[in-house]
Amino acid sequence: MDWTAAIKQALRTTSANLERFKDAYPHVSNGDGKYARMNQTNWTEGFWSGILWLSYEYSQEPAFREAAERSVASFGRRLEQGNQLDHHDIGFLYSLSAKAQWIIEQDESARELALRAADALMRRWRPGPRLIQAWGAEGDPENGGRIIIDCLMNLPLLYWAAEQTGDGRYAEIARAHAEKSRRFLVRGDDSSYHTFYFDPETGDALRGGTHQGFRDGSTWTRGQAWGIYGFALAHRYYKAPEFLETSKRLARYFIAHLPEDQVAYWDFDVPQEEGTPRDSSASAIAACGLLELAGQLPEADPERHAFLAAAEQSMRSLVARYFTAGHEAEEGLLRHGSYSVRSGASPDDFVIWGDYFFLEALMRLDRGIPGYWYAR
Ligand code: GLY
Repeated sequence: MDWTAAIKQALRTTSANLERFKDAYPHVSNGDGKYARMNQTNWTEGFWSGILWLSYEYSQEPAFREAAERSVASFGRRLEQGNQLDHHDIGFLYSLSAKAQWIIEQDESARELALRAADALMRRWRPGPRLIQAWGAEGDPENGGRIIIDCLMNLPLLYWAAEQTGDGRYAEIARAHAEKSRRFLVRGDDSSYHTFYFDPETGDALRGGTHQGFRDGSTWTRGQAWGIYGFALAHRYYKAPEFLETSKRLARYFIAHLPEDQVAYWDFDVPQEEGTPRDSSASAIAACGLLELAGQLPEADPERHAFLAAAEQSMRSLVARYFTAGHEAEEGLLRHGSYSVRSGASPDDFVIWGDYFFLEALMRLDRGIPGYWYAR
């Protein structure tokens, strides 16, 4: 597969999108192939910023850099205003915007902004149940003691803040949360819960459940993908073998349960019938996670090659069958993403995080550019 050609096509779409989106942020489409625009009110704005940084890093085109820098300024205003930041996705938002700018340009004000964002994420730590609360206000009856597998991808902002400042609290809190996720979200057969509930006062484990999956005990494919990548990144930082092993276990399950075309349905337990939605974004995230995981394994480890091969196989299928391949009229890169099939939200559409991870995976394959989760 010609990854370079695919990247060139993706950058053509991204160039056209500079004009289309201006200073708005694409979120998900709603059946019409057009992205709904957001303006710093959702959890997804960082992915557009990340696409701009990847595009600039790859091509060195100033137009991408200007748009990316403008986006970081708007993330600064968002933090100052405390606009819609009462959730754990501060990690996604600021890793791919301000932290990305610091990684590429060593810009001091971007570093300061990313560190302030890390402090905002730290304020979601709940010492009673010892977890980072994903959603809602402190004491929220439904969400006060709830963890979400997606949060593993928010933790790299804290790993980076620990490295930057030398302050061990970031790393301690992130580790306690990752460890709790490992123990309670990953099941004995290597599948995963999307979420798990604890008593918000005592921290007693209550039950697993789902938010976007098919049912409480099913395996939501995007959640499993967040876990593959998130535990691989936890291992990169802590070097604790249990995080590596957990990433591997989730990866084995993901690969073993893929359908013939190597692109995941939206849940591993949903009946696979004519018209069952895929979640192409789950496969793009998993491809990045598998490439990260494989890169941490020794050359002689046969699983290194198995994970690499699985990532490449999925990416070949995504490029051949799901990619819009630079077609002028299309705003997105990857068709057939699912936001939340369960609640009828964009069940078969463009989703901006699918585009981001698809581009990151292409860039990992083509030039080893690993996105903006860790300093290089
Ligand atoms: N983190 C939210 C989602 O994956 O839909």
